[in-house]
Amino acid sequence: MTEPNVVGVVGSLRDQSYTRVGIERALGAAEGMGATTELLDLREFDLPVFDADHREAGDAVAFSNRIHAADSILLGTPVYHGSYSGVLKNALDYCGFDEFEHKTVGLLAVAGGGFPITALEHLRSVCRALNCWVIPHQAAIPKARNHVADGQITDPDIEKRIARLGEEAVQYANIEPDPACFESTENVGADD
Ligand SMILES: Cc1cc2nc3c(=O)[nH]c(=O)nc-3n(C[C@H](O)[C@H](O)[C@H](O)COP(=O)(O)O)c2cc1C
Repeated sequence: MTEPNVVGVVGSLRDQSYTRVGIERALGAAEGMGATTELLDLREFDLPVFDADHREAGDAVAFSNRIHAADSILLGTPVYHGSYSGVLKNALDYCGFDEFEHKTVGLLAVAGGGFPITALEHLRSVCRALNCWVIPHQAAIPKARNHVADGQITDPDIEKRIARLGEEAVQYANIEPDPACFESTENVGADD
Protein backbone atom coordinates (compact mmCIF):
# COMPACT_ATOMS: atom_id res chain seq x y z
CA MET A 1 0.00 0.00 0.00
CA THR A 2 1.36 3.44 -0.88
CA GLU A 3 1.41 6.18 1.73
CA PRO A 4 -2.14 7.48 2.17
CA ASN A 5 -2.68 11.13 1.37
CA VAL A 6 -4.65 12.84 4.15
CA VAL A 7 -6.05 16.29 3.49
CA GLY A 8 -7.47 18.57 6.19
CA VAL A 9 -9.96 21.37 5.52
CA VAL A 10 -10.39 24.20 8.01
CA GLY A 11 -13.87 25.75 7.96
CA SER A 12 -12.85 28.96 9.72
CA LEU A 13 -11.17 31.96 8.15
CA ARG A 14 -10.17 33.47 11.51
CA ASP A 15 -6.45 34.19 11.89
CA GLN A 16 -6.32 32.67 15.38
CA SER A 17 -8.70 29.82 14.51
CA TYR A 18 -8.86 27.03 17.09
CA THR A 19 -10.20 24.77 14.35
CA ARG A 20 -6.95 25.23 12.44
CA VAL A 21 -5.03 24.19 15.57
CA GLY A 22 -7.15 21.05 15.84
CA ILE A 23 -6.79 20.07 12.20
CA GLU A 24 -3.03 20.69 12.35
CA ARG A 25 -2.82 18.33 15.33
CA ALA A 26 -4.83 15.62 13.55
CA LEU A 27 -2.68 15.95 10.43
CA GLY A 28 0.45 15.71 12.57
CA ALA A 29 -0.84 12.43 13.98
CA ALA A 30 -1.60 11.19 10.47
CA GLU A 31 1.93 12.07 9.42
CA GLY A 32 3.20 10.11 12.41
CA MET A 33 1.41 7.08 10.93
CA GLY A 34 3.26 7.49 7.62
CA ALA A 35 0.77 9.57 5.64
CA THR A 36 1.51 12.51 3.42
CA THR A 37 -0.65 15.40 4.57
CA GLU A 38 -1.87 18.74 3.37
CA LEU A 39 -3.86 21.44 5.12
CA LEU A 40 -6.30 23.22 2.84
CA ASP A 41 -6.69 26.68 4.34
CA LEU A 42 -9.81 28.23 2.84
CA ARG A 43 -8.27 31.71 3.26
CA GLU A 44 -5.92 30.76 0.44
CA PHE A 45 -8.62 29.80 -2.08
CA ASP A 46 -10.82 32.22 -3.96
CA LEU A 47 -14.19 30.45 -3.61
CA PRO A 48 -17.06 32.89 -4.31
CA VAL A 49 -20.50 32.09 -2.94
CA PHE A 50 -21.39 28.94 -4.87
CA ASP A 51 -23.53 29.45 -7.97
CA ALA A 52 -24.41 26.20 -9.78
CA ASP A 53 -24.17 28.07 -13.09
CA HIS A 54 -20.51 28.87 -12.35
CA ARG A 55 -19.06 25.72 -10.82
CA GLU A 56 -15.50 26.48 -11.85
CA ALA A 57 -15.43 29.99 -10.42
CA GLY A 58 -12.24 31.31 -8.86
CA ASP A 59 -10.03 28.57 -7.44
CA ALA A 60 -12.81 25.95 -7.45
CA VAL A 61 -10.96 23.53 -9.71
CA ALA A 62 -7.71 23.83 -7.75
CA PHE A 63 -9.63 23.18 -4.53
CA SER A 64 -11.65 20.22 -5.79
CA ASN A 65 -8.53 18.68 -7.36
CA ARG A 66 -6.83 18.68 -3.95
CA ILE A 67 -9.83 16.93 -2.40
CA HIS A 68 -9.92 14.49 -5.30
CA ALA A 69 -6.27 13.57 -4.67
CA ALA A 70 -6.95 12.68 -1.01
CA ASP A 71 -7.44 9.17 0.31
CA SER A 72 -8.82 10.51 3.58
CA ILE A 73 -10.26 13.92 4.33
CA LEU A 74 -10.43 15.60 7.73
CA LEU A 75 -13.16 18.23 7.94
CA GLY A 76 -12.80 20.77 10.73
CA THR A 77 -15.51 23.27 11.50
CA PRO A 78 -16.31 25.93 14.05
CA VAL A 79 -19.79 25.57 15.51
CA TYR A 80 -21.93 28.39 14.14
CA HIS A 81 -25.51 28.56 15.41
CA GLY A 82 -25.48 24.89 16.34
CA SER A 83 -24.15 23.71 12.99
CA TYR A 84 -21.06 23.77 10.80
CA SER A 85 -19.83 26.93 9.10
CA GLY A 86 -21.10 28.45 5.88
CA VAL A 87 -17.50 28.77 4.72
CA LEU A 88 -17.11 25.01 4.86
CA LYS A 89 -20.49 24.36 3.21
CA ASN A 90 -19.58 26.72 0.39
CA ALA A 91 -16.32 24.85 -0.21
CA LEU A 92 -18.09 21.47 -0.10
CA ASP A 93 -20.66 22.63 -2.65
CA TYR A 94 -17.85 23.03 -5.19
CA CYS A 95 -17.23 19.28 -4.77
CA GLY A 96 -19.40 16.22 -5.28
CA PHE A 97 -19.30 12.46 -5.71
CA ASP A 98 -16.19 12.69 -7.91
CA GLU A 99 -14.20 14.07 -5.00
CA PHE A 100 -15.87 12.41 -2.02
CA GLU A 101 -17.46 9.08 -2.93
CA HIS A 102 -15.84 6.12 -1.09
CA LYS A 103 -13.41 8.44 0.68
CA THR A 104 -12.72 8.11 4.37
CA VAL A 105 -13.71 11.26 6.26
CA GLY A 106 -12.94 12.30 9.83
CA LEU A 107 -14.85 15.05 11.62
CA LEU A 108 -13.77 17.73 14.09
CA ALA A 109 -15.95 20.50 15.56
CA VAL A 110 -14.79 23.43 17.67
CA ALA A 111 -17.26 25.30 19.85
CA GLY A 112 -17.26 28.42 21.97
CA GLY A 113 -19.80 26.64 24.19
CA GLY A 114 -20.03 23.12 25.48
CA PHE A 115 -22.14 21.36 22.84
CA PRO A 116 -20.40 20.74 19.52
CA ILE A 117 -22.39 17.58 18.74
CA THR A 118 -25.01 18.93 16.34
CA ALA A 119 -22.35 20.35 14.01
CA LEU A 120 -20.72 16.91 13.88
CA GLU A 121 -24.06 15.24 13.18
CA HIS A 122 -24.91 17.69 10.42
CA LEU A 123 -21.53 17.18 8.76
CA ARG A 124 -21.87 13.42 9.09
CA SER A 125 -25.19 13.61 7.20
CA VAL A 126 -23.61 15.66 4.43
CA CYS A 127 -20.78 13.16 4.07
CA ARG A 128 -23.21 10.25 3.97
CA ALA A 129 -25.11 12.01 1.18
CA LEU A 130 -21.80 12.03 -0.72
CA ASN A 131 -21.33 8.32 0.04
CA CYS A 132 -18.23 8.81 2.15
CA TRP A 133 -17.11 6.38 4.81
CA VAL A 134 -17.28 8.56 7.92
CA ILE A 135 -15.04 7.45 10.78
CA PRO A 136 -17.27 6.53 13.77
CA HIS A 137 -14.84 8.19 16.18
CA GLN A 138 -15.21 11.97 16.10
CA ALA A 139 -13.45 14.78 17.91
CA ALA A 140 -14.32 18.19 19.27
CA ILE A 141 -12.91 21.08 21.22
CA PRO A 142 -15.78 22.40 23.38
CA LYS A 143 -15.26 25.71 25.23
CA ALA A 144 -12.34 26.22 22.90
CA ARG A 145 -10.80 29.28 24.50
CA ASN A 146 -10.24 27.24 27.69
CA HIS A 147 -8.53 24.39 25.89
CA VAL A 148 -6.27 26.01 23.31
CA ALA A 149 -3.38 28.35 24.05
CA ASP A 150 -0.45 29.53 21.96
CA GLY A 151 -1.44 27.26 19.10
CA GLN A 152 -1.54 24.13 21.27
CA ILE A 153 -4.36 22.01 22.68
CA THR A 154 -3.91 22.15 26.42
CA ASP A 155 -6.41 19.50 27.49
CA PRO A 156 -4.73 16.08 27.19
CA ASP A 157 -7.98 14.14 26.70
CA ILE A 158 -9.12 16.40 23.88
CA GLU A 159 -5.67 16.30 22.33
CA LYS A 160 -5.70 12.51 22.46
CA ARG A 161 -9.10 12.27 20.76
CA ILE A 162 -7.96 14.59 17.98
CA ALA A 163 -4.72 12.68 17.46
CA ARG A 164 -6.75 9.48 17.31
CA LEU A 165 -8.87 10.99 14.56
CA GLY A 166 -5.74 11.63 12.49
CA GLU A 167 -4.45 8.13 13.14
CA GLU A 168 -7.74 6.55 12.12
CA ALA A 169 -7.77 8.62 8.93
CA VAL A 170 -4.65 6.67 8.00
CA GLN A 171 -5.74 3.33 9.44
CA TYR A 172 -9.00 3.38 7.46
CA ALA A 173 -7.78 5.25 4.36
CA ASN A 174 -8.22 2.20 2.17
CA ILE A 175 -11.19 0.60 3.84
CA GLU A 176 -13.45 -1.41 1.54
CA PRO A 177 -16.37 0.91 0.73
CA ASP A 178 -19.81 0.10 2.11
CA PRO A 179 -22.66 -0.37 -0.35
CA ALA A 180 -24.16 2.99 -1.31
CA CYS A 181 -26.26 4.35 1.54
CA PHE A 182 -29.87 5.31 0.95
CA GLU A 183 -29.27 9.02 1.37
CA SER A 184 -26.52 8.97 -1.26
CA THR A 185 -28.65 7.14 -3.81
CA GLU A 186 -31.30 9.82 -3.33
CA ASN A 187 -28.73 12.62 -3.72
CA VAL A 188 -29.33 13.55 -7.34
CA GLY A 189 -26.55 16.09 -6.95
CA ALA A 190 -25.91 18.96 -9.26
CA ASP A 191 -26.95 17.13 -12.42
CA ASP A 192 -30.70 17.30 -11.86
C1 LIG B 1 -21.62 33.39 13.80
C2 LIG B 1 -21.17 32.59 14.99
C3 LIG B 1 -22.03 31.68 15.55
C4 LIG B 1 -21.61 30.91 16.64
N1 LIG B 1 -22.47 29.99 17.15
C5 LIG B 1 -22.05 29.18 18.16
C6 LIG B 1 -22.91 28.16 18.66
O1 LIG B 1 -24.04 27.98 18.23
N2 LIG B 1 -22.45 27.37 19.65
C7 LIG B 1 -21.20 27.53 20.18
O2 LIG B 1 -20.82 26.78 21.08
N3 LIG B 1 -20.36 28.48 19.72
C8 LIG B 1 -20.75 29.31 18.71
N4 LIG B 1 -19.91 30.25 18.21
C9 LIG B 1 -18.54 30.36 18.74
C10 LIG B 1 -17.54 29.57 17.88
O3 LIG B 1 -17.90 28.21 17.78
C11 LIG B 1 -16.15 29.66 18.51
O4 LIG B 1 -15.75 31.02 18.57
C12 LIG B 1 -15.10 28.83 17.76
O5 LIG B 1 -13.90 28.90 18.44
C13 LIG B 1 -14.84 29.38 16.39
O6 LIG B 1 -13.90 28.55 15.73
P1 LIG B 1 -12.52 29.13 15.25
O7 LIG B 1 -11.72 29.47 16.49
O8 LIG B 1 -11.89 28.03 14.47
O9 LIG B 1 -12.78 30.34 14.41
C14 LIG B 1 -20.30 31.06 17.15
C15 LIG B 1 -19.44 31.99 16.57
C16 LIG B 1 -19.86 32.74 15.50
C17 LIG B 1 -18.89 33.73 14.87
